[in-house]
Amino acid sequence: MATYPLKVCEKRMECNDTASLWLDVPQDLAGAFTYRPGQFLTVENDDGGDLISRQYSLSSSPGAHPRLRITVKKIEGGRMSTWLVDQAGEGDYLEVQTPRGRFFKDLDAPHHVLMLAAGSGIAPILSIGRWLLESNQGHTVTFVYGNRTPDTVILADEMAEIAERHAGICRIEHVMSRAGEDWTGAHGRIDRAYIEAHFASWQAASELPMVAYMCGPEGFMDSAEGALMSAGLSASAIHRESFDMVLEDDETEPGLEVVAEDDPGEDGPPATIVAVVGGEEYEADWQEGENILAALLRMDADVPFSCQEGTCSSCISKLTAGRIEVRPGVLQTLREDDLAEGLTLACLSRPLTRTIRIDFDEI
Ligand SMILES: Cc1cc2nc3c(=O)[nH]c(=O)nc-3n(C[C@H](O)[C@H](O)[C@H](O)COP(=O)(O)OP(=O)(O)OC[C@H]3O[C@@H](n4cnc5c(N)ncnc54)[C@H](O)[C@@H]3O)c2cc1C
Ligand code: FES
Repeated sequence: MATYPLKVCEKRMECNDTASLWLDVPQDLAGAFTYRPGQFLTVENDDGGDLISRQYSLSSSPGAHPRLRITVKKIEGGRMSTWLVDQAGEGDYLEVQTPRGRFFKDLDAPHHVLMLAAGSGIAPILSIGRWLLESNQGHTVTFVYGNRTPDTVILADEMAEIAERHAGICRIEHVMSRAGEDWTGAHGRIDRAYIEAHFASWQAASELPMVAYMCGPEGFMDSAEGALMSAGLSASAIHRESFDMVLEDDETEPGLEVVAEDDPGEDGPPATIVAVVGGEEYEADWQEGENILAALLRMDADVPFSCQEGTCSSCISKLTAGRIEVRPGVLQTLREDDLAEGLTLACLSRPLTRTIRIDFDEI
């Protein structure tokens, strides 16, 4: 997919291994870089002759910030994160794709939004939480943010400023797993026991129905989701975003069927894939054994992709005609209600009907 050079206009070290980079969007690209809270950018870089691409959630909020901000934690030995945190600087240009992702779901009525984050997982959580508070739609927001020690907390000033500005409808609970005696806030990990012990107090903060968003390591999200469901939240009220690069997919499990809402398609051997990307239409003949993304790339279609193995969410798209089969590992990124709407990851999907139509713009 096409990338655009965006200038790093400001860089700030949030703590010793994490940096925020602010990117200027030229006027002529403002439309293309309009984003929803919780979406991410794919950044590309030439790393010693290898073109590498990685995803970074926007930690800025639509409306609140005219520029885009990503917040990157350096992973030991990590090729992109080390470059972004240690080397990329003000005045440099980053090659980035336009924003993608479906983490945030519109809320049609006021809700109490419980926002759970660990470490750099705060990036999309802050983007969504801030947007909800500043949209004046009557939502209340509780942030519960876990870190090891106070000096590893990132974006803390901005969170404090938001909580002050929205006093009464925004609460922040910082939880430290390895803080010293002088830390007067909560100690521990945001695990099942912590959530069970604190859920009633979070719920008591607002009478509105609760929905939860979470981002952080998979283990943290698994136990948080389990605890929230035991506390009475339904699966459809819990949304999670994963930064992990490992797909958990049991190859012996049958695939899941996704059917386009208005047009279930014609039975027969799968043959043609029609894709809509950036307003353009591409057509590919499907070959046995290929996934939909691979078929489109073979035809040089300008589709968004990065990992090609179901972990980065770049190839998220919507089936608008026909039926497809998706690997169950898709449920690491999308929920069953997303699949019911026709959403899928093209790199984990294969066609089941004679023709399928898939839209990468309508997500
Ligand atoms: C949708 C999405 C949004 C993301 N948003 C952010 C964000 O806002 N901020 C941010 O810092 N990162 C974010 N990430 C993670 C980011 O895309 C990269 O995976 C991360 O920066 C590591 O890339 P690298 O090139 O530095 O490491 P690599 O060179 O790819 O990997 C080096 C080593 O680190 C391991 N590794 C790779 N990724 C991770 C990881 N996430 N955690 C622990 N170990 C890892 C690899 O297995 C490998 O051993 C996001 C990922 C996704 C899919
Ligand atoms: S290309 Fe990464 S999820 Fe499909």
